[in-house]
Amino acid sequence: MMLKTVKNKVESSYIVQNYKKILPFVKPYWVRAVIAMLITIPIGSMDALIALMLKPYMDIVLVEKSTEATAYIPILIIVFSLVQSSLNYLATYLNTWVGRKIANDVKIKLFDKLMDYEASFFDRKNSGEIQFRFNNDVDTACNGLISNLKKFVTRIFSSIALICVLLYNSWQLAIIALVVMFGALYPLRTIRKRIKDIMKKTVFSGAKVMTHFNEAFNGNKVITSYNLKNYQNKKFKETLQSVFTLGIKMVQRTGIMSPIMHFIISVGIALVIWYGSYLIASGEMTPGNFVSFLAALLMLYTPIKALGNDFNSVIMSLMAIERIFELMEDIPTIKNSENAAVLDKNVSSIEYQNVSFGYSKNRFSLKNINIKIDAGETVALVGNSGGGKSTFASLLPRFYDVSSGKIIINGKDIRDIDLYSLREHIAVVFQDNFLFSGTIRENITLGKENVSQEDIDLAVKSACLEEFVAELKDGLDSQIGERGVLISGGQKQRIAIARAFLKNAPIVILDEATSALDNKSEAVVQRAIDNLMKNRTVIVIAHRLSTVRNADKIVVINYGQIAEIGTHDELIKREEGIYASLYKAQLK
Ligand SMILES: Nc1ncnc2c1ncn2[C@@H]1O[C@H](COP(=O)(O)OP(=O)(O)OP(=O)(O)O)[C@@H](O)[C@H]1O
Ligand SMILES: [Mg+2]
Repeated sequence: MMLKTVKNKVESSYIVQNYKKILPFVKPYWVRAVIAMLITIPIGSMDALIALMLKPYMDIVLVEKSTEATAYIPILIIVFSLVQSSLNYLATYLNTWVGRKIANDVKIKLFDKLMDYEASFFDRKNSGEIQFRFNNDVDTACNGLISNLKKFVTRIFSSIALICVLLYNSWQLAIIALVVMFGALYPLRTIRKRIKDIMKKTVFSGAKVMTHFNEAFNGNKVITSYNLKNYQNKKFKETLQSVFTLGIKMVQRTGIMSPIMHFIISVGIALVIWYGSYLIASGEMTPGNFVSFLAALLMLYTPIKALGNDFNSVIMSLMAIERIFELMEDIPTIKNSENAAVLDKNVSSIEYQNVSFGYSKNRFSLKNINIKIDAGETVALVGNSGGGKSTFASLLPRFYDVSSGKIIINGKDIRDIDLYSLREHIAVVFQDNFLFSGTIRENITLGKENVSQEDIDLAVKSACLEEFVAELKDGLDSQIGERGVLISGGQKQRIAIARAFLKNAPIVILDEATSALDNKSEAVVQRAIDNLMKNRTVIVIAHRLSTVRNADKIVVINYGQIAEIGTHDELIKREEGIYASLYKAQLK
């Protein structure tokens, strides 16, 4: 009864709960996992056999001084340890194999999940946190899972077998030994409570360390030009110091377990020796029994003394599992609705109806936007910086969902359109385009298969990249470096435009596509953009009003609201109008 309650308190339900979650991932490899588990039975039980052998050895050889019957013992010992260590090797191999496979599968599933997340998820998280939770946590969880599970199962079987040896040798002493053993386990139940808070902070700090590295990488030019070396060093040191402090705190809180357990166990051994000597003296126990008992007891207690530390890492890996499944069970907010329809290839109209949107709850970046865009029209958005132009555009491919109102394409709320199909219909050239490491070709085709060389050439020509590509030794197959660091800003922008050409989507969004250019290349890119806009429905955002003159509609978005709509000629006539004054200012 007492044993049972103590065992329950060692958080068995927490352990079982979390191991259960990982079970579906073990399933594909269950044969190997089971074999690995079964192997631990003999490994664990063999310890007990050695202890058991000590009794006949003691009683026959040492007491009766006969050697014939036990001549085989030295050979047996060698055979035993050979078998045991070979099995150990096999178990380690299988466990590692299964563990790594599981870790891979979990990472693949999490990465898939990561790809599903909406823009606001990435706004909230920093890159370090993502690396930490999606990669390091999985390693912690799976490595812990393998090594600890093997250790634990081996120990359980070795404990059971050793307890049998104890009982066989003397039931009275066995009872003393077991009561002490469960007493020593008792403090373990508080471990999780002790480390939970620190673990959380450790994960946070660990993620921060990663972020430092990411910023050193991505921000190296800013760091160099502002002489931020010392500043960055200082911040990095501080973060490391906080990781250190947390690590020490963890040891302070859990390290105390070890002396407590040592103490309880030494009391147990003392009691056994005291009472055992009495049993031998009174002839109730042979010396062989006693030595065998003592050997089994020491074998049983040694791992228990280390259990404090092992249990720590078990709890840590369980907490990592908990965090992983938090992510897995989290549902992205922007996803396909149940009866999502596929969008028709021909887009006939886009309509924003009373659209309001805020990145956070009570701060609206767009208010009551109403506008209808017909097929083939070019709509230009102008207005103050931070006014909401990019936000307006990012609602259409559902990077974010509207807070109220709706956006309608071909008479359908975009939330009822299949996400993949919706995004297939929209090509976006961003203010700041992301290029992948790889070649120009890869960055234009973006994994699209069955693209003909003619299509690529046409896209390159239309994006006014021909001349640039011709200069390169490897042409389209030239590497552009991570994030495109090896090419210029204007070249990056034209690659992004070539992408949009190849995508050949009926709707095009251009966000400041000429912002990074000098006048001459602006003319070149402008030609590329004019090509791209032909026969498409276009939303174009530009600060330079020369680029928007020819738009069918110009929409002035000021502080989140539509202030004016009209053609260039109409708007220019309004003496007090925002567009007219912007235009005049730029002419000067
Ligand atoms: N990811 C985001 N999270 C929170 N707020 C944002 C985010 N992106 C933009 N904002 C805020 O929303 C408002 C509108 O920003 P938006 O980028 O749409 O302006 P913009 O008109 O495109 O400006 P610019 O001409 O400078 O590009 C701004 O106040 C901005 O600070
Ligand atoms: Mg913008």
